[in-house]
Amino acid sequence: MDKFVVRGGNPLLGTIKVSGAKNSALPCMAAAILTEDEVILENIPQVHDIETERKLLTSMGAEVELGYGRAQHRTHIKCAILSDPVAKYEIVKTMRASSLVLGPLIARTGIARVAMPGGCAIGGRPIDLHISGLEAMGATITQDHGYLEARADRLKGAHIVFDKITVTGTEDLLMAATLAEGETLFENCAREPEVTDLAALLIAMGAKIEGAGTATIRVQGVTRLHGARHRINPDRIEAGTFLVAGAITGGDLNVDCCEPKHLGALISKLEQCGVKIDVGADHVRVRSGGELKAADMTTEEYPGFPTDMQAQYMALATQAEGTSSITENIFENRFMHVQELIRMGANITISGRTATIRGKTPLQSAAVMCSDLRASASLVLAALVADGETILDRVYHLDRGYEHFEEKLRGVGAQIRRMGDVFGKK
Ligand code: UD1
Repeated sequence: MDKFVVRGGNPLLGTIKVSGAKNSALPCMAAAILTEDEVILENIPQVHDIETERKLLTSMGAEVELGYGRAQHRTHIKCAILSDPVAKYEIVKTMRASSLVLGPLIARTGIARVAMPGGCAIGGRPIDLHISGLEAMGATITQDHGYLEARADRLKGAHIVFDKITVTGTEDLLMAATLAEGETLFENCAREPEVTDLAALLIAMGAKIEGAGTATIRVQGVTRLHGARHRINPDRIEAGTFLVAGAITGGDLNVDCCEPKHLGALISKLEQCGVKIDVGADHVRVRSGGELKAADMTTEEYPGFPTDMQAQYMALATQAEGTSSITENIFENRFMHVQELIRMGANITISGRTATIRGKTPLQSAAVMCSDLRASASLVLAALVADGETILDRVYHLDRGYEHFEEKLRGVGAQIRRMGDVFGKK
């Protein structure tokens, strides 16, 4: 298993580029299931989750050509024949977003067999809302040997009110509704930019969708979708991670090729912490404004502060003067990074869903363990300001979702290198 070795102390200076959004790319790749024509996606990030999704689609009979190295990271997907509409456990267990194929598979082939995702480090993460939505659209769902099987001759439009806001749930059912008979009305939908990105692709494929990006989405089902070409949005979480990297190191960093409109909650929080921010059309510059100040934060659905930036923000809070309280509202167990930050010298206590961080504490290097994707990013950020050389184990979590993370950070002055396992295993 690879490790990162990070030596802290350098302010990050220069320009760093943001890649395409993993969480947009995953549903957009799944959307290709809805048509037998070719779907071309640009700006697909070169991260491990995308490779997993490629495996998932090819295991069903799709042709997927990931065009890394080519202009625009252009990817071609053709699901002319789906000979095996099954999402196997070996693949689903490594990536929960595999449940995104449930809706498109049943809509296209009338049958979907998808392994039930297991537990996950950041909480239970059930898919009950995907299931009840498909049932409302007329699917019959059974469970056997750890698999869900959904069947329907043709899905029917329905009125679906989500009990809880779910991003992949909204995406999964939105895809299903595009080929359903009649109108589907969704209420209490996720408003995340990834939902809007997916809807833009579906519309380019011939779907009739109104209201994506708002809480109410209306879909008129069509009998067939066709191929399309679509460019994936910039990754707002990667951009946010770099903004915090610039702020925590007291640097001067231009985060380029991003969509500042998607970063509103983070930018205002950083400004509250005393960080200087200049927003351009497709870039955000972050600069030190002197000492960092504590500011409380609560995670919320978009457009609120994203749960996927909570761990990185906590690293910053350890370096802010005063007491910050951070409340995690979306996932019940998303404080796995806290123990590792404490081992590096942070002063953090947890009570229920709220962490209290007393700063500023100097951080020291240590051997630390990455527990999930965003927790890994948080530990790298802490290591960038720690005294000495921090060794981060299990960086495969980080490789799931950040493209060339260490190369990008090195390009703006960070001292970070990857160390392979002595046996050469990843
Ligand atoms: C997506 C993102 C993830 C992000 C999360 C919240 C992808 C691939 N992943 O995950 O990075 O952290 O949104 O912004 O896009 N829930 C249910 N029943 C369901 C579905 C969800 O109770 O059927 C609950 C979850 O347990 C959680 C909350 O709803 O408490 C939100 O989860 P959800 O938005 O579905 O997260 P994901 O789509 O899995």
